[in-house]
Amino acid sequence: FQATDDTLPLAGKRILVTSGATREPLDPVRYLTNASSGKQGTAIAAALRAAGADVEFITGVAEVPPPNGVNVTNITTAQDMYDAVHEALPCDVAIFCAAVSDWRPRQAGTEKIKKKGDGEAPSLEMVLNPDILKSVAALDPSERPELVIGFAAETENVIEHAKAKRERKGCDWLLANDVSAGTGTFGGDSNSIIFFDDQGHEVWPRMSKQEVGMALTDRIASALNSQK
Ligand code: CTP
Ligand code: CA
Repeated sequence: FQATDDTLPLAGKRILVTSGATREPLDPVRYLTNASSGKQGTAIAAALRAAGADVEFITGVAEVPPPNGVNVTNITTAQDMYDAVHEALPCDVAIFCAAVSDWRPRQAGTEKIKKKGDGEAPSLEMVLNPDILKSVAALDPSERPELVIGFAAETENVIEHAKAKRERKGCDWLLANDVSAGTGTFGGDSNSIIFFDDQGHEVWPRMSKQEVGMALTDRIASALNSQK
């Protein structure tokens, strides 16, 4: 436990961060998931903590351990993450870094799916998972965090897709990253961010995921402190 220094820029602010990948079971031994190392979410949570925030870190599966000094909730499925996020509210800021599975198999059998003798493969019937970011962005102003921040991993037309995504999701800020082959963003230690808000977009230089965490933390601190 680290005592919080009240002179730090985010002292007294409660900030929720989702991170890592969700897993959707098909049966007791198989699941559907997304590519996510959890490195960017972890770096953001660490930077927020260093700036004095009380961090609620809600994480799926990640390659890196959660940062020290944050309150960790481990979840498996998108529905679990949705429930944990809504239970952790209210907060001042909510940041959605998790790679959430958009769908889940309609039925996750309690027994292992066996190969059929006829050489046929089973087909999967999927249903939509709840959109966690969208659900928080749409909350009534009395419950909605002051800042709702999303991420978008895009492989093509990054600017157009991300601009439309910010509007569709109803979030205040959106950090888009180009994860197309060759950028090294997925699983790597650096990130190229295009930052979107209601004013437009800014292209940030390529920097480490720790530096992205610090840049975002500074921006959050200025936004919250300018509203006082
Ligand atoms: N997200 C979420 N809940 C979901 C899906 C996504 O909270 N069920 C969040 C992610 O954590 C991220 C943002 O929404 O902050 C954008 O996720 P992304 O997958 O890029 O957006 P989608 O609307 O799912 O669009 P796409 O069809 O590109 O996957
Ligand atoms: Ca998605």
